[in-house]
Amino acid sequence: MSADNAPVGAVLDGRRIVLAVSGGIASYKAVELCRLLVDAGAHVIPVLTDDAQRFVGALTFSALASEPACTNLFSGSDGGEPIPHTRLGQSADLIMVVPATAKIIGKYAAGISDDLLSATLLATRAPVLMAPAMHTEMWEHAAVQENIATLCRRGVHIVGPESGRLAGGDIGQGRLAGLDRIVEAASELLARGRDLAGLRVLVTAGGTREAIDPVRFVGNRSSGKMGYAVAAVAAQRGASVTLVTTTAAAVTSGMQIIRVETAQEMHQAVMSQFDAVDVVVMAAAVADFRPKAVAFEKLKKNDGVPEIVLEPTEDILAELGACKVGQVLVGFAAETDNLAEHAADKMLRKHVDLMVANDVSATDAGFEVDTNRALLLDSSGAREETPLITKMALAGVIWDRVAERLGRTELIKEQH
Ligand SMILES: Cc1cc2nc3c(=O)[nH]c(=O)nc-3n(C[C@H](O)[C@H](O)[C@H](O)COP(=O)(O)O)c2cc1C
Repeated sequence: MSADNAPVGAVLDGRRIVLAVSGGIASYKAVELCRLLVDAGAHVIPVLTDDAQRFVGALTFSALASEPACTNLFSGSDGGEPIPHTRLGQSADLIMVVPATAKIIGKYAAGISDDLLSATLLATRAPVLMAPAMHTEMWEHAAVQENIATLCRRGVHIVGPESGRLAGGDIGQGRLAGLDRIVEAASELLARGRDLAGLRVLVTAGGTREAIDPVRFVGNRSSGKMGYAVAAVAAQRGASVTLVTTTAAAVTSGMQIIRVETAQEMHQAVMSQFDAVDVVVMAAAVADFRPKAVAFEKLKKNDGVPEIVLEPTEDILAELGACKVGQVLVGFAAETDNLAEHAADKMLRKHVDLMVANDVSATDAGFEVDTNRALLLDSSGAREETPLITKMALAGVIWDRVAERLGRTELIKEQH
């Protein structure tokens, strides 16, 4: 759902927002943001790092916010709240880090919790919105860009930075996003909030591996990033998620994980869960063929070139399409030619409700990279092309369409 379904800011009313302020030159703008959020009805709890207080006073935030500013992880030892970071993290509807310095971005990506702000970020399941601000050289540094990519992959929402005037008279990329943009992003996150609450979803991720012998396999280039993004966004939006994955990558807590390796194992795992779920997103790249016979011992080079005979694997998507009873079925089509035609054909043949097609021959989309460009085909005839966007953003679009199909967008509109 987009913010234009409700007046910008209206959804902030009564919501608990931790406004986390780290120490950059743009910290002073967080003072105005605090006032805007309070004016919109939000319950704002400011959290300032030690270095943020070199730029702006905690007293200023205490005077404007809904609660006094929090600055100390160890306030308990002075007779204050014993575990402030868990209260802040667990009770928040949204955490906004404005401005986000290179340092807090790095600490959050690395999982370091050495002060109140960084500990609160790890102690929450609420959505996190970060608005980075720093000099262009810092923003473009590979370390910062890799940390941002890591956070995006984990579902953190990044707004800005913009290009414009920076401290010291410089001009370039790195300026804090406009406060109106930041408020709009917060409103959109809160409005979308938990629109998938109560929904049970099954997501598959990664490429299957079909053994040739004990050390070799037939595989594909799927990294699992798209499936992980789909699972992470569903969990963020309140769904109860089961992820069937071939990769060992870590996931957000709170999901049920089933690790598999082969197409056959994935087939078993998916079919065992199917009756109990409302939506299945088949983002995994399941092998179409596997070696008919698997050698018990490692094949020896000296024995000559082996002849490997392949046989078809189970067609999980087609089987789901044939036996679904009300579940929404989302399929992926990885194509290298005639994208729309092949995807439409696959959707029809396999009784898929929503087909996400992408051209995997492009270098910036498809396998392994963090971005994707997709053509979405709906069985009702709707068709939508996305530009090149992050896999998290594409996951958001997919869930928007599923939510629309299930009438959940209307539900959220009514609630606001
Ligand atoms: C005048 C001044 C301005 C700064 N502005 C920024 C900035 O805009 N962005 C940034 O990432 N770091 C900036 N820094 C560096 C941070 O203040 C420094 O990394 C600090 O330790 C951040 O701490 P925190 O993230 O824990 O608040 C600035 C430092 C100085 C002295």
